Amino acid sequence: MKVSIIGTGYVGLVTGVCFAEKGHQVVCVDVDKGKVNKINKGIAPIFEKGLEELLQKNIQKNLQVTTDLYNSVLSTDITLIAVGTPYNGIEIDLTYVKEVSRQIGNALKDKANYHVVVVKSTIVPGTTDEVVLSILEEASKKKAGVDFGVGMNPEFLTEGDAVNDFMHPDRIVLGGLDNRTIHAMEELYHCFEGVDLIRTNNKTAEMIKYASNALLATMISFSNELGNLCSAMGNIDIVDVMKGVHMSNYLSPIQPDGDRVVAPITAFLIAGCGFGGSCLPKDIKALISHGKKAGKQMPLLEAVIRINEHQYEQVLSLLNRHFPSLKGIHVTILGLAFKPGTDDMRESPAIPIIRKLLDQGALIKAYDPISKHEAKKIFGDSIEISNDLFESLQNSQAVILVTRWEEFYKIPELLVNIQPQPLFIDGRRMLDKHSIENYQGIGM
Ligand SMILES: NC(=O)c1ccc[n+]([C@@H]2O[C@H](COP(=O)([O-])OP(=O)(O)OC[C@H]3O[C@@H](n4cnc5c(N)ncnc54)[C@H](O)[C@@H]3O)[C@@H](O)[C@H]2O)c1
Repeated sequence: MKVSIIGTGYVGLVTGVCFAEKGHQVVCVDVDKGKVNKINKGIAPIFEKGLEELLQKNIQKNLQVTTDLYNSVLSTDITLIAVGTPYNGIEIDLTYVKEVSRQIGNALKDKANYHVVVVKSTIVPGTTDEVVLSILEEASKKKAGVDFGVGMNPEFLTEGDAVNDFMHPDRIVLGGLDNRTIHAMEELYHCFEGVDLIRTNNKTAEMIKYASNALLATMISFSNELGNLCSAMGNIDIVDVMKGVHMSNYLSPIQPDGDRVVAPITAFLIAGCGFGGSCLPKDIKALISHGKKAGKQMPLLEAVIRINEHQYEQVLSLLNRHFPSLKGIHVTILGLAFKPGTDDMRESPAIPIIRKLLDQGALIKAYDPISKHEAKKIFGDSIEISNDLFESLQNSQAVILVTRWEEFYKIPELLVNIQPQPLFIDGRRMLDKHSIENYQGIGM
């Protein structure tokens, strides 16, 4: 199938590269010329495991990348919208979605054949039918359901494992205005044989994405609230508590052969320094604000956000307990990305932690396997960025672990060679508390 994808960020580029790999003829479009040039040279502008290899295999073959949206729409059968949908502090910001809808509509005006437009960006329920569809009709002077179809296909990939998630989806949600639209989307996803398809209307497809993200965020804030209670009461460790919770038959049922199957959701039922990233915080806030417009308060989700916004402070209070004044204290931050496997620092808890430490006069050295360039953009020269884990631990009075990078499992053996031992604050409860001399963690 001939498909155009508008926006070559995490979602658009991964989608484009993977559909090309599956045999579709793909044209990716972005306004960012620098990005387009890089991708055309086979360089992925973001870090995602396996992405660059697949890009290099398909570029200039099944995959073209351009800034020319108009001709990309004219030369394809289906267009996916994958531009950003940030939260502007009040509500979802639809600027980019509206802009590309207008441009796609302008191209549809000059297109003789039936075309399908599908939104892949995360947008609050009702947006596809009430905003995207109306702009397309207005700009094209054509009729949705007659001259073109409008669909909604939320994306569930997780940064850090995006290519694998896209290539092996757990479900495919196809929202559509009518059967003709859904059929076109089925053809696009025909290459994912055997995957469960959910066919529904656009508004429900939009809501499935928000419900999925809201569930994960709720699990995290729930675990963090309990972790904070454990530390307030003393002599209870949230790690032991959650181990007991995870062993419930609901979360890790015992199979007839006696083995347990551990549900991956247990990874969200662990206390830490809070969730970040480009999706969970902004999506939950956008849903709350959208709910208010529909006359519905969402006290549960409001609490989920409130707990998360204060959770990073837990590591700071552990630090302040040992260092009432941080002026001139050398602090190492381990992990800058909002989660392992990605260089994305959007809404990473590392950002407010570092800002607060700088405000209090601490001297910061930070280490992350791949987010160094992102950190440089945010903090400039106000922090030192280390290229080596062992080096980053040296001459430090306190170390704070913020991201669960696999590499950090070797910290206990590295610390043995360092004297005097720094205070070690595990913001993710990743390491065994008995393996480090001056260990402190959230929820204990
Ligand atoms: N990042 C994730 O893990 C993830 C997962 C699922 C869903 N989503 C959703 O997918 C959408 C995209 O997210 P992302 O992280 O890929 O965003 P991103 O910010 O990484 O990428 C968006 C891209 O769109 C481009 N763009 C903006 N305006 C354009 C225009 N007029 N024409 C062409 N290109 C334009 C930008 O230059 C940018 O490259 C969002 O709605 C997000 O919520 C993201």
